[in-house]
Amino acid sequence: MKILITGATSGIGLSLVKLYKSLNCEVIAVGRNPQILSELAQLGIDTITLDLLDLVACRNQFKQLEQKHSFVDLAILNAGNCEYVDCESFDAELVKRVFDANVITLANSIECVLPLLRKSTQAHLVGVASMASYVPLSRAEAYGASKSAVNYLLESLAIDLLPENIAVTVVNPGFVKTPLTAKNDFPMPFALEADDAAKIIHQGIVNKKNEIHFPYRLSIPMKLFALLPRGLWRKFAQKFKKV
Ligand SMILES: NC(=O)c1ccc[n+]([C@@H]2O[C@H](COP(=O)([O-])OP(=O)(O)OC[C@H]3O[C@@H](n4cnc5c(N)ncnc54)[C@H](OP(=O)(O)O)[C@@H]3O)[C@@H](O)[C@H]2O)c1
Repeated sequence: MKILITGATSGIGLSLVKLYKSLNCEVIAVGRNPQILSELAQLGIDTITLDLLDLVACRNQFKQLEQKHSFVDLAILNAGNCEYVDCESFDAELVKRVFDANVITLANSIECVLPLLRKSTQAHLVGVASMASYVPLSRAEAYGASKSAVNYLLESLAIDLLPENIAVTVVNPGFVKTPLTAKNDFPMPFALEADDAAKIIHQGIVNKKNEIHFPYRLSIPMKLFALLPRGLWRKFAQKFKKV
């Protein structure tokens, strides 16, 4: 099985790369960090150095990839970033950076990897969003909105790729201990290790789930919160605000 993983040099992506390699899969790791990529190459993993925001570079690199591999069975599009908004000095550039990191990198990846998936007989596209998209959260004006966009994009894509028999899965994790969350200055309930998150994602992919969400202890209450009348949620959400 041939698997392409973006955001492969850190956190959840790096754990997924190591997990799939341990399962004897052929892994193509896409990332920006040359040192980690060269360490992965020494483990026999194929690597691509790429800023996924650079669409021209993406097209060129994937053309070369196609010559070498011709197809990909599973694409896990995981690259992303989080920054929190400070409403006292609302920064539109921050919002753009977060949308670039989460939505535009995903769109660029999809354009480039779809032709390779179309040549597989068991094609599966997986995108990593976040549970932050379930309900509006304090300071998540950029991150939550971008991950809502990721959810919508992937759900639409799932409808359009169904006739081609290409499966699409959305991953909505809760808190996972990675460099991305290391900077969080608030409690992270039920936070998981990245290796454990990777195992859950892998199992969900094996089961061809439409949505993989975890941990249930957080995702189920969050899904229920989304059903509350908006006014009630706004009052309740004040409790989660950092003072
Ligand atoms: N950790 C959590 O609690 C959590 C919860 C929900 C969702 N998620 C999502 O899970 C995914 C992985 O996050 P993580 O926690 O593992 O974070 P991480 O450790 O910071 O890893 C993010 C990866 O994305 C890569 N990346 C970002 N922008 C890129 C770009 N323009 N081009 C290429 N690569 C780019 C990073 O590359 P560099 O190392 O070069 O920067 C890094 O490898 C993200 O989409 C995140 O939003 C995480």
